[in-house]
Amino acid sequence: MRILVTGGAGFIGSNFVRRMATRPDVDMVTLDALTYAGNLDNLEGVAGRHTFVRGDICDADAVTKAMDGADAVVHFAAESHVDRSIATSAPFIRTNIEGTRVLLEAARECRVRKFVHVSTDEVYGSLGATGYFTEESCLAPNSPYSASKAGSDLLARAYCETYDLPVVITRCSNNYGPYQFPEKLIPLMVIHALEGRELPVYGDGGNVRDWLHVADHCSALEAVLHAGVAGEVYNIGGRNERTNLEIVKMILYIMGRDESLITFVKDRPGHDRRYAIDASKMERELGWTPAYDLERGLTETVAWYVAHREWWESILSGAYREYYERQYGVEL
Ligand code: NAD
Ligand code: DAU
Repeated sequence: MRILVTGGAGFIGSNFVRRMATRPDVDMVTLDALTYAGNLDNLEGVAGRHTFVRGDICDADAVTKAMDGADAVVHFAAESHVDRSIATSAPFIRTNIEGTRVLLEAARECRVRKFVHVSTDEVYGSLGATGYFTEESCLAPNSPYSASKAGSDLLARAYCETYDLPVVITRCSNNYGPYQFPEKLIPLMVIHALEGRELPVYGDGGNVRDWLHVADHCSALEAVLHAGVAGEVYNIGGRNERTNLEIVKMILYIMGRDESLITFVKDRPGHDRRYAIDASKMERELGWTPAYDLERGLTETVAWYVAHREWWESILSGAYREYYERQYGVEL
């Protein structure tokens, strides 16, 4: 099977490429623009198992070339950070909506047999104290990021209905694990704790997220790639609801650091209060279950960031950008 993986130099995409690189019957092309979030260091060790193409998913020619001969597309490429979307929404609309449209058009032309559109639970908006998001929940996004993802989901759905493109949409909860860009909650807090800096918790720290180890997200996506039914949506989640404050305290406990590092800061505008996923359809129909419990996953994740100081220091210093300029001879 030949797969085109978009966004494969990012956090989840690179974990997926690494997983699929162990499958002898899979041939992969990774298409990634190497934005600030893309990092070839994330793909170290699998260079011989996929073809890396630097390209923008909004560029129809680059996409068509990269998709040539593909049986399936697994589409991760996106602007992914909510806070950035609040500061500037334009790149989110461009990549997440227009980029997805370009990919869907190319997938029609190339007659791919499966298009896995990797989306997020954030398209459902925010929950109160009880209840879960199911695949039937209404889309009610609250940030420019989640609105752009919801837009891309609706386009993907429309291409399936209108053109019979075999699209499957997945909506996953918050991921954590190795290679996550250090702007996101867990790596940011681990790095701040390592450096003895304040840990900035938004608002009262009572917002709830449903955490899933990235390896479990990737195993779910592999199951969807093989057995997901065209036109269907699959929710993916870990049944690991925790408040942000609980997560930050767990990190400090694992690291043996003092809770006095916690600092409450101004809240995120439009901050979704609670996400919780009902993943029973994935479990029932595709036989998927997560392997990690949160305590083990978080302990291993903290250990990974401690052991990979060079990886995150090169991001924080900006050195990883210079590497691409040398590699590609272009300023990014
Ligand atoms: P990320 O920001 O770490 O990686 C995104 C990747 O996409 C980067 O490598 C970047 O270079 C690439 N990219 C961005 N714009 C591009 C463009 N125009 N053309 C080609 N490549 C481009 O993101 P992530 O956290 O790995 O998320 C991957 C996908 O999973 C996203 O679609 C996101 O919405 C979804 N998702 C993420 C989470 C999470 O917790 N991180 C949870 C559910 C769903
Ligand atoms: O739910 C899936 C989504 O999870 C994905 O679609 C997004 O791509 C991904 O970024 C993530 O979105 P969140 O906004 O939930 O993740 P983030 O790591 O930015 O924040 C997690 C929670 O922690 C959120 O309630 C905001 C809070 N937070 C975040 C940061 C960066 C803080 O309290 N302090 C911080 O410094």
